[in-house]
Amino acid sequence: KQRVLTGITTSGTPHLGNYAGAIRPAIAASRQPGVESFYFLADYHALIKVQDPARVQRSTLEIAAAWLACGLDPDTVWFYRQSDVPEIPELTWLLTCVAGKGILNRAHAYKAAVDKNAAEGNDADAGVSAGLFMYPVLMAADILLFGAHTVPVGRDQVQHIEMARDFGARFNHIYGGEYFTLPEAAVEESVATLPGLDGRKMSKSYDNTIALFADAATLKKQIMGLVTDSRAPGEPKDTEGSALFQLYQAFASPAQTDALRADFAAGIAWGEAKQRLFEVIDAEIAPMRERYNALMADPARIEAVLQAGAVKARAIATPLLRQLRHAVGLRDLA
Ligand code: TYM
Repeated sequence: KQRVLTGITTSGTPHLGNYAGAIRPAIAASRQPGVESFYFLADYHALIKVQDPARVQRSTLEIAAAWLACGLDPDTVWFYRQSDVPEIPELTWLLTCVAGKGILNRAHAYKAAVDKNAAEGNDADAGVSAGLFMYPVLMAADILLFGAHTVPVGRDQVQHIEMARDFGARFNHIYGGEYFTLPEAAVEESVATLPGLDGRKMSKSYDNTIALFADAATLKKQIMGLVTDSRAPGEPKDTEGSALFQLYQAFASPAQTDALRADFAAGIAWGEAKQRLFEVIDAEIAPMRERYNALMADPARIEAVLQAGAVKARAIATPLLRQLRHAVGLRDLA
């Protein structure tokens, strides 16, 4: 069976980029026959950025509710919280010992921190935790532990999946076995990088996100504040490089997208284009928003789903870890 796996870091409120880049394609994949799906809340990853326990807990609840509200069926998939599976940090160590440090030096998030320090005249590693540096190894453990073939992600995560392949292949080679399946990233091109309100990639770190489940009035207000150029009504507009157009494309049908393209050329007013964007997003989100609000009002139900998910996930993780401990020369745990 084809295994599909993906995770979301529990460091904030789920946004449209998470939805279009990961949740929506992942749920579609989980409904294909012959697919086994593994979707999880990356709360160990969250600790790299967020050292506020209340925020991590709140985000975990929100992201779990988002997955369920968007249609994930926890009875047919593996849906769990990363920190409920102790085999993940254990595998992280085994992989750490085969992962090349030079490869980790090239990881985007780490390099960005080092470059920023250089630009500001600081020590290269000032303010960089070992956790940030090791981020790709933890992520490789997430993926390799469950034998994922395919990992649906936005473009920003592709490098991490290539690193997971590298570490998995190295382990297989050193210990002479097919212990790990080598995963491939699956990037949906039309939403590979969904722009945020300021036109840059939608990201918690840029504070330019549109919350997935804001109420309709807030959603509309946010969309009305989206950056556009200063072209007046009647002047032709470029679709190329337009955040508005890219967002529209991620939610509209191909026919609707063609229609908006024609209206851009004909000089649609920005206000009207934003209204159309709001409508197409709200039409898709509104039914899920109701389910989300109901789930958020019942945290015990979410917790029960996650605990059942942890049992299912460990049923796969424990036997593999046993095999890996043997492979590297460690004994079984009592
Ligand atoms: P995270 O939490 O930053 O984002 C979760 C998912 O949302 C996608 N995404 C986007 N896609 C398109 N446009 C955007 N603007 C946008 N912003 C976010 C991300 O690409 C991602 O697919 N390290 C991961 C979480 C993780 C993981 C894993 C993913 C941990 N272990 C194993 C896959 C497999 C992260 O921080 O994603």
